[in-house]
Amino acid sequence: MERTFLAIKPDGVQRKLIGEIIKRFETKGFTLVGLKFMSVNRELAEQHYDVHKERPFFGNLVEFITSGPIIAMVWEGDGVVSAARKVIGATNPLTAEPGTIRGDYGANIGRNLIHGSDAIETAQREIALWFKDEELVNWQPTLTAWIY
Ligand code: TYD
Repeated sequence: MERTFLAIKPDGVQRKLIGEIIKRFETKGFTLVGLKFMSVNRELAEQHYDVHKERPFFGNLVEFITSGPIIAMVWEGDGVVSAARKVIGATNPLTAEPGTIRGDYGANIGRNLIHGSDAIETAQREIALWFKDEELVNWQPTLTAWIY
């Protein structure tokens, strides 16, 4: 089944939004298969945001993502990559729809609370970058039968 990589950024952790953010993916019906609370070093941050390395905001982005602990997660479900992006909302919290995580809790593009993979191939790359195979749990909650 499809998997995506999500990360609660340092602002989400500092603002005590971990539970609120995780709850949205849990109650939607997706399955958590990996989770860790961790510091991010510069090398990992630069690899993760490699696609943006020529952009003017790259330096600030790396500074921000390494500025405090984050929650790295892998979630599973049909269509989870694009559906999670909808739950997260647009990149800029000021234009993100109310009801989305960024729309409900953010007020600045540089502090947008959560990362979500933007495509299936990106998700595969990011999951491999952030998690070892043995850190992922292959399981099916029995509740799944009531969702699908
Ligand atoms: P991007 O991958 O375009 O957005 P998303 O996180 O929605 O997939 O950009 C990565 C992060 O870079 C974004 O979450 C916030 C930051 N960023 C800025 O600080 N300024 C900008 O102008 C853009 C486009 C992104």
